[in-house]
Amino acid sequence: MEQNRFQLLPMNEEHVEGVHAVFEECFSAEKWSVRSIREELTNQLARTFVMWDALEEKVVGFINVHHVLGEGDLNDIAVTQSCRRKGLAARLMKAALKLAQEEGISRYTLEVRESNQGAIRFYESFGFQKVGMRKNYYTKPTENALLYQIEL
Ligand SMILES: CC(C)(COP(=O)(O)OP(=O)(O)OC[C@H]1O[C@@H](n2cnc3c(N)ncnc32)[C@H](O)[C@@H]1OP(=O)(O)O)[C@@H](O)C(=O)NCCC(=O)NCCS
Repeated sequence: MEQNRFQLLPMNEEHVEGVHAVFEECFSAEKWSVRSIREELTNQLARTFVMWDALEEKVVGFINVHHVLGEGDLNDIAVTQSCRRKGLAARLMKAALKLAQEEGISRYTLEVRESNQGAIRFYESFGFQKVGMRKNYYTKPTENALLYQIEL
């Protein structure tokens, strides 16, 4: 069971509430409504994958990317606290990057809080490189965003 426990799936209607719950847990300072998440299902630009825990029957992680004019904006990636450091975010990222390559996307860009060392290590382990900084980009608390990119 354990080896098939975590399943990578394209997000569908049944996952929307679960994605919202993971988002709320992981990004307490930000808002992403259930309605906005649901809209991603029909947004032609959006690519969203979830990690489904077949044992607990719930969403434990997700990645949301927008493919716009040949480039990818990585909006969010998150894994629930109790399931971290099992390689689940890496599986989500690999799936998004594979799809991006299939769709001829040339690069991925993302922003990350300067203090979010865990996420920064994660992105750097995939070869993302720091290309800039947006001063006071985040609120609650106010913080600089680091801009990272990977050429595909
Ligand atoms: C960042 C996040 C998505 C990583 O999820 P995860 O499933 O734990 O990541 P993985 O297990 O796939 O990690 C893969 C590799 O990334 C690196 N990494 C991941 N989290 C790390 C951390 N907290 N500290 C240092 N390195 C880390 C490691 O190299 C890790 O490999 P290892 O476990 O063999 O050392 C998760 O910590 C999270 O949801 N954080 C809160 C939300 C967030 O900040 N998202 C990013 C917003 S920009």
